[in-house]
Amino acid sequence: MSATAAPIERVGVVGGGIMGCGIAEVCARTGLDVILVEVDSAAAERAEQRIRASLDRGVSRGKLEPDEGREALELCRFEPDAAALADRELVIEAVVENREAKLRVFELLSKTVESDSAILASNTSSIPIVELAAAAGERAPNVLGLHFFNPVPVLALVEVIPSLLTESDVIQRAQAFAEEQLEKDPIVAPDRAGFTVNALLIPYLLSAIRMFEQGLASAEDIDKGMVKGCAHPMGPLALADLIGLDTVLGVSESLYREHREQLFAPPPLLQRLVAANLLGRKTGRGLYSYQ
Ligand code: CAA
Repeated sequence: MSATAAPIERVGVVGGGIMGCGIAEVCARTGLDVILVEVDSAAAERAEQRIRASLDRGVSRGKLEPDEGREALELCRFEPDAAALADRELVIEAVVENREAKLRVFELLSKTVESDSAILASNTSSIPIVELAAAAGERAPNVLGLHFFNPVPVLALVEVIPSLLTESDVIQRAQAFAEEQLEKDPIVAPDRAGFTVNALLIPYLLSAIRMFEQGLASAEDIDKGMVKGCAHPMGPLALADLIGLDTVLGVSESLYREHREQLFAPPPLLQRLVAANLLGRKTGRGLYSYQ
């Protein structure tokens, strides 16, 4: 199986959460034909609203013209059935950060996407790419990680993560897609839990949650410390809420499973907040309240 060097025109995204919508949005903003698949039409409708709101924000911040926002939305189709992805040249999976859910998607994509040269990518934050490749059977050489950062329209980085089985022309084509077509800044990252960025970022966020949980400092002071003292754009607790506490927990569990090191272990407070469905900004309450 070999990928061709032609630019990619037809992109599929599986999952219409924060990341899936952000990825679909940046693809459509560069003129690509995008199909976003969600589990049912209500979820597909929510994904469309999310992308519309972000495009409106882009227009209000002067990043794009109103016409460009409208055109980008017109390039996105929202479908409740993965069969719609049959003609895609690249599909990016962005479902919930759960190993079994992602394995199911890769198994399905390997049977649904028709072209032998189509790239099957995952936006996973931490799950080994080689496991997703194995779930894709004969398509394994065309599987790799394409990991974007939240907010996707704002942050430039994309981690490109080949597995031991990824063909080199697939890696090159994915890098060219990120750099030349999406105008992002890709880095190649190793296929180990957390790749490059989350292997560093997540222990930092977990340390901040532990410091707060142990009553050593207020949430506001922890965040202020890192914003004012280290010039971070936002503090670790606010950032955990932005990422989504379910995602932070999922990544923490993957890192802990692989490395068995205490610094990756999820703090009880994080587990309780997720059990209570207090997931951060997206549910209106997490480490902070947004209501
Ligand atoms: N489209 C285009 N541009 C947009 C936009 C949109 N929808 N929304 C905002 N922007 C632009 C703004 O115009 C502004 O650009 P300029 O700096 O050129 O003026 C910039 O983005 C910042 O926007 P805001 O003024 O609205 O907001 P802010 O200054 O308060 O910044 C923030 C908000 C971008 C979230 C910033 O706080 C930030 O970068 N925080 C860190 C986020 C981070 O670390 N993300 C990584 C999370 S880890 C991850 O995602 C991976 C994982 O696997 C867990």
